[in-house]
Amino acid sequence: MEVGRDFNPLLGDICELVREYGVEVVAVAMTAGTTDEGNIDPVDEFCEVCRDTEVPIHVDVAYGGLIAPFLRKHGYRIPRFDFSLRSVYSITVDLHKLITPVPGSALLQRSRELQELATFESPYMPLGRHRTLLGTRTGGLAASTWAVLKVLGYEGIFRGSRGG
Ligand SMILES: Cc1ncc(COP(=O)(O)O)c(C=O)c1O
Repeated sequence: MEVGRDFNPLLGDICELVREYGVEVVAVAMTAGTTDEGNIDPVDEFCEVCRDTEVPIHVDVAYGGLIAPFLRKHGYRIPRFDFSLRSVYSITVDLHKLITPVPGSALLQRSRELQELATFESPYMPLGRHRTLLGTRTGGLAASTWAVLKVLGYEGIFRGSRGG
């Protein structure tokens, strides 16, 4: 695939592939905060360019999840990549990259209907249901992640996002 002068893939080309493969395309995954460079993909621009396809977008904000959402408030001009864009269906954030023990990941989904699509019956579980990938994992870390978020609050995370 060709890249542009900024070394990013050409959005129109990606969209052409989406059109070509049609319903075989489950989603396009984009990143807000790449691991090495912190690049933020032009999610908003892609949504615009590819609007007619209605392809769902997943945004990987694993690494940048506690920083990127605040950059505009710190005066940086960055692309939008959140649920204010109609095509963004899901977002992943890793709280364990900065503030909690591993694993402290979160999958955010646009609607309860989407959550239901990733929910399975598990009669042996206390709630009788299981979300996302089936497997045994500790709930303790989810609880500690929740507690850290409660303690820091929006202000604490905002302060941390500018580095102190
Ligand atoms: C951009 C990005 N996405 C996803 C991951 C996967 O993270 P993990 O396996 O810790 O959830 C990483 C890890 O560094 C990352 O930087």
